[in-house]
Amino acid sequence: MAETQFNALLAPGRIAGLKLSNRVLLPAMDMNLCVEGEISDGEIAHYTARAAGGTAMVITGTGAVAWPVGATSRHQPAFSDDRFIPGIRRLADSIHAVGGTLCMQLCHHGKTASVDTADGRPQLVPSVLDAKPDLSALRDSPMSELMGLATATQGKKASYKVADEDDLAWVIDQFAQAARRVKEAGVDAIEIHAAHGYLLSTFLSRGYNKRDDRWGGSLENRARLTCEVVKAIKVVVGADYPVIVRLNGFEFGLEDGLTPDETARAAALIEEAGADAIHVSANAHNPFADFTQGPLPAEVGQYREYTKIVKQHVTIPVIAVGRMLPEIADEMLQLGECDFVSMGRQLLADPDLVNKIREGQRKTVRPCINCYVCVEQNFFDGNPKCAVNPALCNESVAVLSSMTSAKHVVVVGGGPGGMEAARVAAIRGAKVTLIEKGARLGGTLWFSQLTTPANQLLVDWLTHEIERLNIDVLLSTEATREVIQALNPDDIVVATGARRGLPEVPGGALPHVLTGDVLRGLITGEKDADSRSLSFLGKLVVTAGRSLGLLNSADRIRSLSKAWMPVGKRVVVIGGGLVGLELAEYLAERGRLVTVLEEGPHMGLPMAMPRRWTAVIKATKHGVVLVRDASVVSIDKVSVRYRSGEDEFEAHGDTVVVASQVEPDTSLADSLRDLGIRVQVVGDAVTVGYIEGAMHTAHKVAREL
Ligand SMILES: Cc1cc2nc3c(=O)[nH]c(=O)nc-3n(C[C@H](O)[C@H](O)[C@H](O)COP(=O)(O)O)c2cc1C
Ligand code: SF4
Repeated sequence: MAETQFNALLAPGRIAGLKLSNRVLLPAMDMNLCVEGEISDGEIAHYTARAAGGTAMVITGTGAVAWPVGATSRHQPAFSDDRFIPGIRRLADSIHAVGGTLCMQLCHHGKTASVDTADGRPQLVPSVLDAKPDLSALRDSPMSELMGLATATQGKKASYKVADEDDLAWVIDQFAQAARRVKEAGVDAIEIHAAHGYLLSTFLSRGYNKRDDRWGGSLENRARLTCEVVKAIKVVVGADYPVIVRLNGFEFGLEDGLTPDETARAAALIEEAGADAIHVSANAHNPFADFTQGPLPAEVGQYREYTKIVKQHVTIPVIAVGRMLPEIADEMLQLGECDFVSMGRQLLADPDLVNKIREGQRKTVRPCINCYVCVEQNFFDGNPKCAVNPALCNESVAVLSSMTSAKHVVVVGGGPGGMEAARVAAIRGAKVTLIEKGARLGGTLWFSQLTTPANQLLVDWLTHEIERLNIDVLLSTEATREVIQALNPDDIVVATGARRGLPEVPGGALPHVLTGDVLRGLITGEKDADSRSLSFLGKLVVTAGRSLGLLNSADRIRSLSKAWMPVGKRVVVIGGGLVGLELAEYLAERGRLVTVLEEGPHMGLPMAMPRRWTAVIKATKHGVVLVRDASVVSIDKVSVRYRSGEDEFEAHGDTVVVASQVEPDTSLADSLRDLGIRVQVVGDAVTVGYIEGAMHTAHKVAREL
């Protein structure tokens, strides 16, 4: 057996009297699978899978203590009545049956209690603020999304009530009663949600709390509500019952928001009130601007400094969160910067992370690629789905049945769809041959890691799986009828990706107009790249880079491309979708003057909303000119003419990159249909759906072969 690493991560720990088998927790994440507040089988399957995968403690997605009052969804756990206890007990029993421990997160949603708005109640707040939120990011949302955003409130306008003494006494009691029910149901711990802009966190924050009574003003006063909730809970559940409190280490974009130092001092007060652990998260005042800072950070270990400061101020365990990958988590634990780590999206992507690490199989952990597809569904009051894990919220598909008879499956195309189909078929017992035209695996995913480094994790994981499962890989091989026939397969899966064309306008075929494929070839030095647009020097650089092996590593290309790239000073990108927008930012970061022309009214549409909002903001900050509703009329050597409304305009560009004109391409599959072998198509070749579409369609086809 391979040597076990991550000793700090795998060491047992303790919160109050509760023994935990290792240091990895699942933080609260709404699955929205409850039915009118009742725990459903889907919720149980979701959390049980993560507990069975070795996670020391799973914390359920936030539940409402006074549900439906103060609730954010009708699909979240409810704690407001004893009738909810049996459902919670079923969950606790299921978690215990696989050796796990269960914590439930208790919340009053305050100013985001959408159910209050839907039901015509005012939302409870410490103070009414006049400032209107900046909703400009929503201009890139089509009507379907805007309607989705209004689901939980049923499109009604929120009203607010400033909490008075009676309201606060009621809130404290509701928390205490909820905790009693949770304990009675056999749950091992509770977490009080005092972060993310919900009621308790708005009291804690000077930015939201403008009161001058005993609940506002000084930090002691602002922390009073959380402290009183902790004390009331302890009276009901007993001093020994573990109570965790989740806090914002920082509030992004909020004038007078919490600072790490204030959080640390608040944590000390909350410890004094009886809390047994502090969980350090963060939040953004305007989710439409800063959601990828908080509560779902884009950077690995983004809240590390906040956590360290809290740790210095308390004696109880501190839990770190924020793109915690095993390596940084182990390091932080070793350095004493925290006592536990929460891995959110990473455990959505792979529930078995802890078991795999314990078995010395770190590389087999399916990575989260930070794409925000999961959480986007929460904005629509829906169930998260994961781009890389089709079993999220549908655990039944995680179980892959063995094939009844061994088949030989030929997969054509070594991008994410092809690799995923090959992986799943091989796990099910098929002999798999994977044919790839290029010289390496990854396809467009390999290229995308240049602009989106987290995608590299997926390339690496899929490549490792292909090797681990002994899949035959034929690189630099054209999948002709003859090649396929010679392999004599039982099944063919075509994953050759989309067709990328040039715009059919005058000048559309000029040498400086590059499709994404050609640009990829030029930047990555692929042999078959069309180098017609390269100068002599450019050809020399690419040839030298290729022969020195410099172009085999995405990291190296990323840094080399800061010095030289085969594109001019002014670049026009045609198409402001996922690829166009990310490419624009990449080019702008490398000193190019970039204009993006998007034919439709919305930029970045295929990206999940939080990522889209950030991409638009970042591109704009880098000076990229974003033009919506722009249809290209013609292209010449120095510019692209486009029409917007009644008028025509010109965007200067000595290089034009076409990131639109992407269409499914079933031509190879169609040409193979008369071979008498079943042919199925996955990924962009059948419907352009990027990584999520590729992984999901491939998984489905391969699990049903
Ligand atoms: C789909 C989804 C739902 C979430 N719901 C909650 C929630 O109910 N309560 C909460 O405190 N945090 C919630 N979060 C935030 C996570 O607990 C976690 O702090 C965040 O995802 C950052 O950790 P990560 O980078 O490991 O994903 C949610 C995150 C996701 C992805
Ligand atoms: S959807 Fe994307 S961000 Fe969410 S868990 Fe899956 S890979 Fe990670």
